[in-house]
Amino acid sequence: MSRLTGQNILLGITAGVAAYKTPALVRALRAEGAEINVVMSANAHKFVTPTALQAVSGHPVRDDLWDPNAEASMGHIELARWADQILIAPATANCVAALAQGQAYDLLSTLCLATDARVLIAPAMNQGMYLHPATQRNLATLKTFGYVVIDPDHGEQACGEFGPGRLPDPNDLIAALDQPTLADQAVSVLQDLNVMITAGPTREAIDPVRFISNHSSGVQGLSLAEVANAAGARVTLIAGPGVPACSAEISRYDVTSAMDMHAIVHELLADIDLFIGVAAVADYRVAQAAAQKIKKHTSSDEHLDLRLIENPDIIASVVDSAHEPVVVGFAAETQDTLKHAREKRLRKGLHAIVVNDVSDASIGFNSPDNATTFICDNEEVFFERQSKQEMANKLLQQIAETLGTELATRKSGHLKSE
Ligand SMILES: Cc1cc2nc3c(=O)[nH]c(=O)nc-3n(C[C@H](O)[C@H](O)[C@H](O)COP(=O)(O)O)c2cc1C
Repeated sequence: MSRLTGQNILLGITAGVAAYKTPALVRALRAEGAEINVVMSANAHKFVTPTALQAVSGHPVRDDLWDPNAEASMGHIELARWADQILIAPATANCVAALAQGQAYDLLSTLCLATDARVLIAPAMNQGMYLHPATQRNLATLKTFGYVVIDPDHGEQACGEFGPGRLPDPNDLIAALDQPTLADQAVSVLQDLNVMITAGPTREAIDPVRFISNHSSGVQGLSLAEVANAAGARVTLIAGPGVPACSAEISRYDVTSAMDMHAIVHELLADIDLFIGVAAVADYRVAQAAAQKIKKHTSSDEHLDLRLIENPDIIASVVDSAHEPVVVGFAAETQDTLKHAREKRLRKGLHAIVVNDVSDASIGFNSPDNATTFICDNEEVFFERQSKQEMANKLLQQIAETLGTELATRKSGHLKSE
């Protein structure tokens, strides 16, 4: 039986050429046993008729936020609650931009804001529109909301151009809907757990205008924070510079340097049950950052020597703290990844370590995707390349399975004392 059997799927259709393919998608989804309601943008009528979609979905198609019959019972909220998953296919560049800004200008955009459902976006458009930095930035923003962005297919387009932007086949869209979400068991482990996550890079000042940093985007840590928050954990996010925005329920503390991060982690650590150190913390800082901008040619020598001193190891210091949370570390390696990660886990006394190979540009730093290996006492699990949001789901599921007993003990301890 398909996981979609009995699921309520809301299909949002916006005004891309590929909208003409959606009746076939609706039929394929119904063949999986899903219940389908269709919501169209006003412009999508140019490419596909509501009559065809009503016939294949078995339900009237909704396209009007101001429909007096539906809105008498707050139809947009009802639909937002009804859906287990929302798939927008095709999603126009316009729709992606509006969602990234949190606009609520029609029925579809409004119910996307109102819903708790998993939202999947299948952008489909001319390759130039797709590759435009504005569209890419907007898609990256949607990922930070926890939306799943389904990569478009590459090939010949309706406009005659060649490149990325084609709507994937119904089978691929169905496969994206058919992903496991966090299992009930993992949700029950995470619910009411006090979780602290560090994310992003740190910046180590050289002088008032220059710093040493790294390529970490913070998206993997942020995604873990969002998934844990959605599962009912009380999440504290310690974010280095440039980490994108997060949900309002997450307690977020922005920091700049490794020393700042170390200080705030220990200030807030007392009640933490699970600490996940994802941040790419600089190992070294400049021993004496200059108070004024360092000028060129201040000496006869062509060299500028910077003396670096070691920063505190934040993850190891959390392990050594009196609070003894369950600690999961992340390791970014460029060679002998597994060997180094196994050694690091043992040396630091971590419950588990998650390692990725950042020498592969298609994963890790600055990529929307990641591939990782989770290593704990008696298990090593490889997670193949997938979006950082999906990876966050998988890793928290794994943490809940492997470390569930320790976490339950910690949680019952602090719940009793509340
Ligand atoms: C013939 C034609 C084809 C279009 N195809 C696409 C497309 O495939 N993807 C896209 O993002 N926009 C496409 N557009 C532009 C959108 O239809 C336009 O941005 C519209 O305002 C989107 O409305 P909506 O997002 O509310 O549905 C096309 C426009 C025309 C006239």
